[in-house]
Amino acid sequence: MRTSYFQLKKTFMKQLLLVVSGLAFLIACNSGKPQTNLTFNKEIAPLIHKHCTPCHRPGEAGPFSLITYKDVRKKAKTIARVVEAGVMPPWPVDPEYSHFVGEKVLTDTEKEMIVTWFNAGCLEGNASDLKPAPIYPEGSQLGKPDVVIRMEEPFTIPGDNRDRFMVFKIPYELEKDTFLRMVEYVPGNRKLSHHVNGHIIQYDDKQKKDVFVGPRYVDREVAGTLDSCYRFMKLLNDDETYPLLTPSVFNFLPGVLPQQYPDGIGGYRIKKKGAILMRDLHYGPTPVSETDQPHINLFFSAKPPERPFMETQLGTLGISEIVPPLLIPSRHHHEICY
Ligand code: HEC
Repeated sequence: MRTSYFQLKKTFMKQLLLVVSGLAFLIACNSGKPQTNLTFNKEIAPLIHKHCTPCHRPGEAGPFSLITYKDVRKKAKTIARVVEAGVMPPWPVDPEYSHFVGEKVLTDTEKEMIVTWFNAGCLEGNASDLKPAPIYPEGSQLGKPDVVIRMEEPFTIPGDNRDRFMVFKIPYELEKDTFLRMVEYVPGNRKLSHHVNGHIIQYDDKQKKDVFVGPRYVDREVAGTLDSCYRFMKLLNDDETYPLLTPSVFNFLPGVLPQQYPDGIGGYRIKKKGAILMRDLHYGPTPVSETDQPHINLFFSAKPPERPFMETQLGTLGISEIVPPLLIPSRHHHEICY
């Protein structure tokens, strides 16, 4: 998983770099170019609000807001470039080959509309044409969670210019055993949060009296093995056996949205006593100390999972290079049997 994330991120950054290097500065919109009736208020705002503002708004992953005409106009040249190049919205899958539920892509017509609008001078249009931007949920991309599990204390990321791989636990006790539909990770410090892999540890009521005992975090490089992390953080059952682990309930990278599956697909059973296990939360280097206090949104389901899913990892779990490399060229169909 980790390998592929890094590769995705690398490709994404490369694409962004290509785009950025092609740009001199942000220049104002071209004026007096081709004629068009397209205006921000009528045609462009709905596209931006649907495809861009979920991330490009305060508190979300996008580095600037794209809500108002002024916001969009200021970035119009870069927007036209990244939209045309297919870099934004971020979606590394080839939409000409296959489609996915929840895919983030603009159609060719939509791309063309944005580029034409830019080339014609970014017309604003009539105020009466502008529909208000949707009201997006706060602290979530998905809606209003049933329970929010917050890291109890902010974690200080020391300003020593080194990457950090931390293992965190956030213990919780719910009212009763239940079913989960979705789990969403929301970082507190978006600038330094590189990625995190999140799991749920489940405790049988009788096997763990108090889930809130033990330190909340350990530096993976200091702790060494996973077993020593478990022991140090008192994650084992009271009789020292390993509790049930539900792996990969969330995986976060900047710009990657949480998984939402159609009704009846995915989801988990969870026991009322548990702990979110973040293994690892990777922070980028910083010369000055900063803090992070992420939270995890749980969305319940009234029904048990009908078609649970399973994550299969190919490769070496990011531990070493894959030799020979596994390359599946795009537009090739491969059947994998196991
Ligand atoms: C899933 C979240 C997400 C969505 C949806 C999204 N963006 Fe972004 N956008 C980002 C992130 C994250 C970055 C910063 C990338 C980085 O610095 O690595 C970014 C960067 C950008 C940049 C700066 C690129 C540069 O070269 O400086 C532009 C322009 C942009 N987005 C426009 C858009 C537009 C237009 C849309 C909609 C068509 C959109 N984005 C949709 C997350 C998103």
